[in-house]
Amino acid sequence: MAEEDAHDTLDILDRALTIARAYIAARHDRDVWPTISLDDLRAALSGPLPLDPVEPSRVVDALARAADPGLVTTTGPRYFGFVTGGALPATVAAEWLTTAWDQNGALFVMSPAASVVEEVAGAWLLDLLGLPPTVSVGFVTGCGMANFTAMAAARHELLRRAGWDVESDGLQGAPRLRVIVGDEVHVSAVAALRLIGVGSRQLERIAVDDQGRMKADALERALAGGSGPTIVCAQAGNVNTGAFDPLDAIADITSRHRAWLHVDGAFGLWAGASAALKHLVRGVERADSWATDAHKWLNVPYDSGLVFVAHPAAHRAAMSMGAAYLTRSQAEPREPMDWTPEASRRARGFSIYAALRSLGRRGVEDLVDRCCRLARRFAERLRQEPAIRILNDVVLNQVLVRVERHGTRGSEADQATRDVLKLVQEERICWMGGTRWHDMDAIRISVSNWSTTEDDVDRSAESIIRAVRHA
Ligand SMILES: Cc1ncc(COP(=O)(O)O)c(C=O)c1O
Repeated sequence: MAEEDAHDTLDILDRALTIARAYIAARHDRDVWPTISLDDLRAALSGPLPLDPVEPSRVVDALARAADPGLVTTTGPRYFGFVTGGALPATVAAEWLTTAWDQNGALFVMSPAASVVEEVAGAWLLDLLGLPPTVSVGFVTGCGMANFTAMAAARHELLRRAGWDVESDGLQGAPRLRVIVGDEVHVSAVAALRLIGVGSRQLERIAVDDQGRMKADALERALAGGSGPTIVCAQAGNVNTGAFDPLDAIADITSRHRAWLHVDGAFGLWAGASAALKHLVRGVERADSWATDAHKWLNVPYDSGLVFVAHPAAHRAAMSMGAAYLTRSQAEPREPMDWTPEASRRARGFSIYAALRSLGRRGVEDLVDRCCRLARRFAERLRQEPAIRILNDVVLNQVLVRVERHGTRGSEADQATRDVLKLVQEERICWMGGTRWHDMDAIRISVSNWSTTEDDVDRSAESIIRAVRHA
């Protein structure tokens, strides 16, 4: 019986491998965006829950057949939507192994390998991103959850300094927490703050410049104008423009006012891995906490985010839980659940370890530099078309495109931009999304995939230019 079970699993893995190979081989040439309608997709996937078991290989075949037309080729080289990384070869394989091993990455005793891999990958990450080696690291689902974890650590530490134990006594009656954010704060940081008990209307928003960078002098005034335990939420990499808050100047101010400085660097933190771009994050190592993603620029499959905290005791106090049966190991290894909101969870460290080891320091730097070079190429090609205006300084991997025919501005240009975006999306050579930037509609391009080439950028730029001429 045991042998039969093993055979079943192996057969079905072979089948899944065949399907995955075909998908991966096609990712360069598949339509980037699916054609199937919502109704057809529902019809293909729905039906009554079977009463009796269905043979696993039939399930996998049917699932793959029905889902395939509804898949977005985000792993392909011409997907420029949101900020979406691809999947490096070593990480896809490591993810499969993670599933086959099915380790619970909560405690050392549940998986010594998962714990030590996090320890090693964590140290590599700190070194790569230019953060102090004493910083604690948590492996979470994404930057939003990393923001939440960091905010919980900040809340713990600031209230502890004010003589309040928030984990025991809760928030009711606690000293008031001031939270200051840039006006371009990412929504996930706002959501994270909501989760720690700070409502969005309670945030003090600091003015930003035309690229979305927080104005340091306005922050100084805000901090000088109030008192009490304060969190300042800065940003490395604006989701639209890619711009960076002036972290060094901000760190001067927050250290003077004894505020907690958090840096939301979902993709921008990776500028620290590049000699050419490091200047953008000057002063980043002076922060108290940082949040980033591995599923964006490191090109690790979803989901994978990272939180770093300069005060490990606060990080652990905000996250850890204890029960008699949750056995901690004598040798005091890393206990992964001390650093994340969850206890039981996927052993995400394996694929981050695989990504870092397969790229090496030079490979990560090259990946970051290449995407930025390609973003600049995109902008240069598009600028040659008279009706196209690039709205941002292309300092990173983000490009904001607007269509302004014959100098049209306002709602006419908004409509033209939306029409062009629709045509580009319908052509399916590439995919990118839309946004609003400073009251203007724009097309957002994010170059974040390890496999994107000059040719992919040129083909995609031509698709946009074709649409501009025909819209
Ligand atoms: C600056 C910033 N912070 C946070 C996030 C949220 O990241 P995730 O969706 O991985 O949780 C993003 C996503 O684009 C982002 O750009």
